[in-house]
Amino acid sequence: MKVTVVGAGAVGASCAEYIAMKDFAAEVVLVDIKEGFAEGKAMDLMQTASLNGFDTKITGTTGDYSKTAGSKVAVITSGIPRKPGMTREELIGINAGIVKEVTENLVKHSPNVIIIVVSNPMDTMAYLVHKTSGLPKNQIIGMGGALDSARFKYRLAEALECPISDVDGMVIAAHSDTGMLPLMSKATRNGVPVTEFLDEAKQDHVAEETKVGGATLTKLLGTSAWYAPGAAVSVMVQSILCDHKKMIPCSLMLDGEYGESDICLGVPAIIGKNGVERIVEISLTDAEKEKFATAAKAVREVNGDLKF
Ligand code: NAI
Repeated sequence: MKVTVVGAGAVGASCAEYIAMKDFAAEVVLVDIKEGFAEGKAMDLMQTASLNGFDTKITGTTGDYSKTAGSKVAVITSGIPRKPGMTREELIGINAGIVKEVTENLVKHSPNVIIIVVSNPMDTMAYLVHKTSGLPKNQIIGMGGALDSARFKYRLAEALECPISDVDGMVIAAHSDTGMLPLMSKATRNGVPVTEFLDEAKQDHVAEETKVGGATLTKLLGTSAWYAPGAAVSVMVQSILCDHKKMIPCSLMLDGEYGESDICLGVPAIIGKNGVERIVEISLTDAEKEKFATAAKAVREVNGDLKF
């Protein structure tokens, strides 16, 4: 099973590393536009194989998409990341052109590929891939909720002063500072609602810290984060290649689910060998429904800036 990762930058290389470390794919092909960069990253990663004990083959290419032929999954991480103070939405101008061109190249060589979109503004980039790739909608998955939920769990564990493995929780709606919707009403510590442990002020604090999780790291690092994004993608790729059928919040094209259509937004879904096996519709409180609709409105406005 071959996996292509386009963009051998911070997120792409991290993603390739986690996929290799988990040793479930036969081959990872890294593609970048920068001469020699993907080849260099691939060679460096391959030299960790004997140290870390994996057999996944990692190769790199400067834009030769024939090397990606027959990929089961392709991850698009190519494009510019945000700098401190920037929103994800400000990246649209440059990234839309890159994502469109990369998608065309991927589909040309792997007509049945499942694409995971990472480049920002991710919900809009996923929508762009839907509109331009010609792939069935179950084969296009935006990565946002997997990462945002991991950040939510980190903040919950911090507030609860407990191990992260004790907590569970999910973030849906948009992958943006304002449009994320951490589902506090459904978050648990070992099956007990966290609302039993955290007062409203603490719940609000956790939700706010989760929503600005990416911006907090961008401020600290000078660019956007890569370890958790790479790990989040690797979990999604593994669920597809190993047909784990994990329930993961992903940005998916909606057709009436959650009251929205013709838009990609984060919703829970079963991810397996066909990509999106099923969108899961869960009950939301009235306040959550309202926030979901507000997030949809904002994403729709950004989508309006796309030129196909
Ligand atoms: P980076 O700058 O480290 O890497 C991007 C790579 O893409 C560079 O190596 C660049 O040469 C390459 N590239 C640019 N145009 C290309 C093309 N046409 N073909 C092939 N490669 C090309 O950036 P980083 O930090 O890896 O972020 C990548 C993207 O992922 C950004 O848009 C960032 O905002 C987004 N991101 C999304 C997350 C999410 O949760 N959805 C989380 C973290 C980052």
